[in-house]
Amino acid sequence: MSQEANNTEPKLIGLMAQFDDPDSLLAACEKVRKAGYTKTDAYTPFPLHGIDEALGIKPTILPWIVLMLGIMGGFAGLGLQYITNADWYPFIISAKPVWSLPANIPVIFELVILHAAFAVFIGMLFLNKLPTFSNPLFRVPEFARATDDKFFLTIDVNDEKYKPNKTRDLLDGLIGQTDVIEVFEDPSPAELPKIIKFVGIGVAVVALVPPLLLWRAYYQTSTVPRINPIRDMDVQLRGDTQTVSPVFADGRTMRPRIPGTVARGEWVDPIMLTGIVPETGEQNVLFLQDEEATEEGTKKPAEEENPADDKPAEEKPADEKPEADKPMAEAKPAQDKPADANPADAKPAEGEAPAQPEEPEPNWVKIAPINVTRATLERGRNRYNIYCSVCHGLAGDGDGLVSQRALQLEQPTWIPPTNLHTDYLLTQPDGKIYNTITHGIRKMKGYGDQIPAEDRWAIVTYVRALQKTRTGTPEEIPAVEMKELEIKGQ
Ligand code: HEC
Repeated sequence: MSQEANNTEPKLIGLMAQFDDPDSLLAACEKVRKAGYTKTDAYTPFPLHGIDEALGIKPTILPWIVLMLGIMGGFAGLGLQYITNADWYPFIISAKPVWSLPANIPVIFELVILHAAFAVFIGMLFLNKLPTFSNPLFRVPEFARATDDKFFLTIDVNDEKYKPNKTRDLLDGLIGQTDVIEVFEDPSPAELPKIIKFVGIGVAVVALVPPLLLWRAYYQTSTVPRINPIRDMDVQLRGDTQTVSPVFADGRTMRPRIPGTVARGEWVDPIMLTGIVPETGEQNVLFLQDEEATEEGTKKPAEEENPADDKPAEEKPADEKPEADKPMAEAKPAQDKPADANPADAKPAEGEAPAQPEEPEPNWVKIAPINVTRATLERGRNRYNIYCSVCHGLAGDGDGLVSQRALQLEQPTWIPPTNLHTDYLLTQPDGKIYNTITHGIRKMKGYGDQIPAEDRWAIVTYVRALQKTRTGTPEEIPAVEMKELEIKGQ
């Protein structure tokens, strides 16, 4: 209230003369300019030719600004294309030069237009001191007709020539003048109303949320797909693992292997993989089907075929089989031995062991299907010491540290690891030992998941070497090495 009281006498900021016709205004402008006034302006309902000259208004500099910005835009387009095409990514396409002016014209043209348009728009606002939300002239009721049928001429009080009475007299004396009006400063407070401030701040804060979310998403990891307006491959028709598919009769999206086929690059020698010699012509089936399926599905008919001797053409494999089978026949009773031999082998071993002979023994490969070199044996020793020695002992006597400890603690359920020098293991085919490593046997777990096939074979070979340390005869040692040993022994 006190502020308003202080402002009861608003400041005079200019004088305004009103005219009825453009010609009087033009004449008045001429006169005022000649009197030396410069801070003047004229307002008309329509563009008035000659008014700029009459008032001495200098032409706008906007065209120059536009020209400058346009030229800048042109060089920006040129530079952009040069840097990207000729410097950063100089690709030669159809033997064309990496940089050539004619090809760059369209972009240059576009950027000239773009920059010029921005210059016009922003420059116009800037030169007109826009945006301005209020002008003191709007508070003069008569001024409303400036857009209708009246013509106005104003002189600013800040004009060097301005003298309160003299200027007023000058305006009063103008021909065709119908009224001289005093223009006062707008007394309303310059500050924004509080409500607008609060709303403005609120909107600004809310507007910060999306960029902040984006910023957070940029640094955070997420298990769900990001908000993705261009969905592309996110929503493709595809079969996900473990889902139902209407395409296939069995409803499975994950397709099982097609019997009789091998995926590219997936072929592994079945003997190498399983330690079992497949029947002739059954290699693929054996390889492709699961281990259990192999034993049940392919082995049984195979063994049925053999006794019948249906196919004379398969005589050779048939000949081989009895040989392969014999050790198994020996091995079967032998397998029960550990249970008898080891008094510690309690009932659980006995209970499980009989279950095995019921299943027909596969056709184990007799000798490891790998190239045995010194490196193989070293590898075998290395793997054996890591994976097997804790139970079977470094020398294979079944006295590994784990076993010793378990016996010391008198663990009631402990089954001592088999002594690898046991007789039946000496004659057991390599494939069978390999299978024991892969799938385990009775109380021993399988190591197929941890030890790759080649290493398993290397271990088998090393086990054989261990056995040889007990069964070997001096005659088996090559003469050269024997000499070395003799020298060392002495
Ligand atoms: C955690 C202890 C443990 C480890 C490690 C272990 N075994 Fe055994 N292994 C046993 C036990 C126990 C038995 C006897 C299982 C039974 O009779 O129930 C056995 C049995 C065997 C047999 C006799 C199989 C048969 O036909 O009777 C062989 C061969 C064998 N293991 C080899 C290996 C090899 C090779 C490794 C290293 C890859 C290995 N074991 C690792 C505990 C182990």
